[in-house]
Order: sequence, then C-alpha cells, then structure tokens
Amino acid sequence: MNILIVYAHPDAHSLNAALKDFAVARLQGAGHTVRVSDLYAMEWNATLQAAEIPEQVHHRADILREQEKLLWADTVIFQFPLWWFSMPAIMKGWVERVYTYGFGYGVGEHSDVRWGDRYGEGTLAGKRAMLMVTAGGWEPHYSPRGINGAIEDLLFPIHHGILYFPGMAVLPPFLVYRTGTMDEARFAAVREQLGQRLDTLATTAPIPFRQQNGGDYQIPEMTLKEDIAPGRSGFAAHLV
Ligand SMILES: Cc1cc2nc3c(=O)[nH]c(=O)nc-3n(C[C@H](O)[C@H](O)[C@H](O)COP(=O)(O)O)c2cc1C
Repeated sequence: MNILIVYAHPDAHSLNAALKDFAVARLQGAGHTVRVSDLYAMEWNATLQAAEIPEQVHHRADILREQEKLLWADTVIFQFPLWWFSMPAIMKGWVERVYTYGFGYGVGEHSDVRWGDRYGEGTLAGKRAMLMVTAGGWEPHYSPRGINGAIEDLLFPIHHGILYFPGMAVLPPFLVYRTGTMDEARFAAVREQLGQRLDTLATTAPIPFRQQNGGDYQIPEMTLKEDIAPGRSGFAAHLV
C-alpha cells in the first residue's frame, strides 16, 4: 500500500517522533511505500489567507503537493499529540488549506435533491484513515463518564468532519494515554500495540458512520429519518 503519515510535532526527541520513526520502519518492513508530511519540519504555513477562500482556481504549490500525496495514498495516518483536546494548530491549518473547494468540499451534485458527495463519498473515497494520538491524561478521564469527555466524542469532529467528510473510511484510533509515565518497558509495549495496528491497517473494520447518501437522512434537512436511531441524538446517533 501507499501510506501517507501527516505528522505534527515540533520536537525530534519526543515520544511522537519515536513512534513516527517506529511506524515508518514497521510499514516499510512490511513492504509498504511510506511518505511523511512532517508539518513542523516543512515549516507548513498553517494560516488560510483570504486569497485562498473559497473557490480559487489557483492553488499554491504547497497545497498542490499535499493534495497529490493524499490522492497517491491508499491509507492516511494523522499523528499528533492531543493539545487542548484536539490536533495541534499546525495540523488544523493543514486541513484548512489542503481541503480546497472541489477537493475537500464542494464535490459532486449540489441541488434540491442532493447535498454533494460527502460523508463517505467524495475525493478521498476508497481510502482509509487512522488517527495516532498521544495524551497526557489518564484513560479513565477519557472514558464515557470521564471528566474530559469520551475520547470518541472529542475525536468525532476529526473522524467524522475531517476524515469521513471527504470520503475516507475511518479506522478506530490508536491512542496512548498518560504519556508522562512512559518508561522503556511501557514504550516497548506501546510499540508492540502500535505494530499490531499497523500490520492490520488493510483489514481493520472502520468506524460504521452512516453514509450521507445511504438513505438514513431526510433531504434537504439532513436529519436522521424518524425511524433511524429513534429517540437518539448526539454524535453516536450517526453510527450504524
Ligand atoms: C499545548 C499543550 C496542550 C496539551 N493539551 C492536552 C490535553 O488537552 N489533554 C491531554 O491529555 N494532554 C494534553 N497535553 C499533554 C500532551 O498530550 C502530551 O504532553 C503529549 O501527548 C506527549 O507526547 P510528546 O512527548 O510526543 O509531546 C498538552 C500538552 C501541550 C504542550
């Protein structure tokens, strides 16, 4: 497979850097072709400017390079430390600039009867995506009743809004909690777990998000039909 890792960490001696190096070696060892967009090392310009909004015909070279990598990839891994309950700003800025009109959004027929190709369809349909996230907090703090909010909820805007929206199938994330307690033994165990996930990228079942054009939503409101997940609302209602 062709695998793109979009990577955001400023420190080459960080846990994330070590996990990224491990992932590249593991994937290459399995015969995959790997490219890394190391956003800090690339000095990625994360600030969307007025001239890039929204339907500019002329995209800048840095944007076109990243779009080419996405089109090339069969699987895209987004790797980052959890910063303020989300991705680092440099990665958000990568999404904002690379997902241009006609590429990340504004794809397909937009009419009274159709809201385009999105949520399971679109430019990146047929590809897989996975988040690789490290967090300082404890796992129970991110459990369904944990004080930080469930990790599935915190990551929903990324999973559903950034990865699934342009068409990618989203695999369950690879998560490392309580990073402050990492020692050699635990790091070895984490590498082992990560290796398992990387070895099974092609076969792991994606998160079963509902397809926009799969019949579960009424048009044009784009709300779930009454007989679909009756009485349920919130993020989890958008799972089959
Ligand atoms: C600016 C900043 C914001 C952070 N926000 C969170 C957070 O919201 N939740 C959390 O669990 N840890 C948070 N942390 C801790 C990082 O997730 C943790 O330091 C990182 O995952 C460790 O990996 P690293 O050594 O590769 O940086 C934050 C750290 C920084 C520097």
